[in-house]
Amino acid sequence: MTTQLWWVNPDAFQASPAALALLSEAERAQHQRYIPPQKRHEYLVTRVLVRTVLCRALGVAPQTLQFISNAWGRPALWPPAPLHFNVSHTEGLVVCLVSPDPDIGVDTERLARAPDLLALAPTVFAPQELRDLAVLPASEQAHRAVVLWTLKESYIKARGMGLALPLDGFAFRFDADRVRLEVSSALEDDGDRWQFHTQLLGSHCVSTCLAGFDRGVSLPLELAPPWTLHPFAL
Ligand SMILES: CC(C)(COP(=O)(O)OP(=O)(O)OC[C@H]1O[C@@H](n2cnc3c(N)ncnc32)[C@H](O)[C@@H]1OP(=O)(O)O)[C@@H](O)C(=O)NCCC(=O)NCCS
Repeated sequence: MTTQLWWVNPDAFQASPAALALLSEAERAQHQRYIPPQKRHEYLVTRVLVRTVLCRALGVAPQTLQFISNAWGRPALWPPAPLHFNVSHTEGLVVCLVSPDPDIGVDTERLARAPDLLALAPTVFAPQELRDLAVLPASEQAHRAVVLWTLKESYIKARGMGLALPLDGFAFRFDADRVRLEVSSALEDDGDRWQFHTQLLGSHCVSTCLAGFDRGVSLPLELAPPWTLHPFAL
């Protein structure tokens, strides 16, 4: 199986009893606990997307899938399966990355958030990232901020540790031909073992982080089709 990125626009998905029936009892209870309607709907669409994509790949019924979370909240299939996933959801987009490789991460943000993320830059970006940002033309800085933000999130999610990883302990550098990751020794990682893709999907920026680069493994990343599920070719 190749690595695939699936996506859905939650606004184009209709909540229904059939959709709710795909969830576990605990997920249905969690769904009910969301007060803002948009967040509640996003939660439902995320669960339906994950279960639909995974059951299609594994050849099992969606209701049979069970999940477990690691110490930092990263969900995975339980019992373990030869298929791994990571999700990201925000207003207007839910994405699910699936792969035979466990070390994967994905993040999406609305491009409209770029000015907000640029304002947060000093608190979340590494010193070298801030220096590179500062020498960009002013007109490009907000876009770079949203790309950087999603790249950093994709990496901390691929590591499975979320914000337990210090955000200033690793820096993305933009070479002419690729995005490169520099990692401080404290993080005990080799930045060259990762490959990154950033894609604009409508009004969203989506970044993915995949391991295997150092092994010469080129993981083909496909975009899936919708129900509105789309894979995209990166
Ligand atoms: C929780 C976190 C992993 C992602 O949060 P987020 O970007 O707000 O949310 P996303 O929609 O992209 O991802 C959420 C999904 O990631 C998954 N996830 C949760 N913890 C995870 C972890 N430790 N590792 C990988 N994935 C994780 C879950 O599937 C979750 O969705 P679900 O709860 O509906 O199942 C973490 O990075 C975080 O809290 N970020 C806050 C934002 C921030 O300050 N970012 C700095 C960027 S430079």
